[in-house]
Formats: sequence, structure tokens, C-alpha cells
Amino acid sequence: MEKMRLDKILSNSGLGSRKEVKQIIKSGEVYVSKKRITDPGYLVDPDKENILVNGEPLYYKKFYYLMMNKPAGVITATRDLNAQTVIDLLSHPYDKFNLFPVGRLDKDTEGLLILTNDGKLAHQLLSPKKHVSKTYYAEVTGKVGNNDIQAFKQGIQLDKDYITLPAELKILEAADISRVIITVYEGKFHQIKRMFNALSKKVIYLKRLSMSSLKLDESLKPGSYRELTPSELESIIISSKENC
Ligand code: URA
Repeated sequence: MEKMRLDKILSNSGLGSRKEVKQIIKSGEVYVSKKRITDPGYLVDPDKENILVNGEPLYYKKFYYLMMNKPAGVITATRDLNAQTVIDLLSHPYDKFNLFPVGRLDKDTEGLLILTNDGKLAHQLLSPKKHVSKTYYAEVTGKVGNNDIQAFKQGIQLDKDYITLPAELKILEAADISRVIITVYEGKFHQIKRMFNALSKKVIYLKRLSMSSLKLDESLKPGSYRELTPSELESIIISSKENC
């Protein structure tokens, strides 16, 4: 990693605002490679040098990657004056890392949401050119059948001038309220709900199960989150570069 200012490393690590960490450094509580450093602008390579703050080692990470099981009732935004956002659900230290959601789930949609401060990865996963897959579980009013499977396969007219890319519909149960799995390769506004509306059906429950190679960890309760494992991260980075 490139050398960075010591105060930036500390504040990016959630130890306080830039002003607060400058105070911590000036008070002599910070050591870099066993040397007490009191200059907030001191340049450090966090990969090569040990940083101790109040005797505790600091493990610096440039980027964070979380998977959240988004609950219904919370909006996918970084801040909002009226509604609770997915960022409001983060507790210390993750609330300090300037994380943002990758893409958007509706307020009433649950399930997999990636949160990161890695703008490049977010951009790749969201790029329309990449056709990143997204798989959802849905409950819809009305009996779904083969004609619906065909319609998803062919693409569904959403607006006057937009037909969706071919998508996959798998029927788990066809009944008055049907249970289905859908995979789409784009991310239009209210896409799944509008696709079913066009087939005269209404989505009454929607949950995202996976995005690209990343599957929702079903042990995460709604509203909970965890960091991606190294192998989850590696596979999502690889697939975000591959899908073209
Ligand atoms: N499609 C929808 O209609 N809503 C979502 O939240 C995600 C996909």
C-alpha cells in the first residue's frame, strides 16, 4: 500500500474525526514501528509498519465489504431525514467507514445487500454492461405457469420502449399465492415487481438471495451483517471483472 498520513489512517479506521485523531497523535499515544510519533502528517505504509494506539495494534484496511440481510421497512440510502436507512443499522466501527450500499432494494424488499467503500467494485457490479446476475425469491398473487416462464425467457415489455433482458423464472409452488425464484441480469427500477405487473400478477414478498457469485448467508437475521470472507470477496471481484 502507498504511504498515508497517520491521522488519515487513524480516522479511516474509525478512531475519530480527523481533528480528534490529531489530538490522540499529539498526546503521544501513537507508536509506529516502536517509535512514538506526534506528527499527524507522518507518512506510514500500513502494510509494512506496525501501528500501536494506546498500546493496541491497529490493523488498517483500505476497503471494507459487508453483506447485510436487509430487513423490510428500511431504505437503501446512506442518509434520510425521515426514514431509517441501511447505514443507520451499522454499529461501531462500521458506521465510521463511509460505507454505501451497492445498488438498491425497495423499502419492502429483504435480503442480500453489499455495503462497501470500494467505489470501483461497486461501479463494476452495477455497470449495465456487466449483466451481473441477481436472484430473488418472490411470492406473487395468482397462479404462475409455463406461459410466465416463457415470458421471462423472452423478455417482458416494461415501458412503451423497454423490453427486459431474458430472465429466468423457476416455479416452487403454483397456487393462489405462488412461490418463485427469479434471476435477472440487469437492475431496472422496481424490476421484478414491474415484470410481474406486466403479467397481471402482484409481488407481495421479495427477497434477494444472491448477487453474482455471492449468496446471502441465511444465518444472518434481518438487519444483521458481517464482513465478506476472503473467498467470497475474491470470487465476487473475479466475477465482476469477468461478466461482460
Ligand atoms: N425488483 C424489485 O421490484 N424490487 C427490488 O427491491 C429489487 C428488484
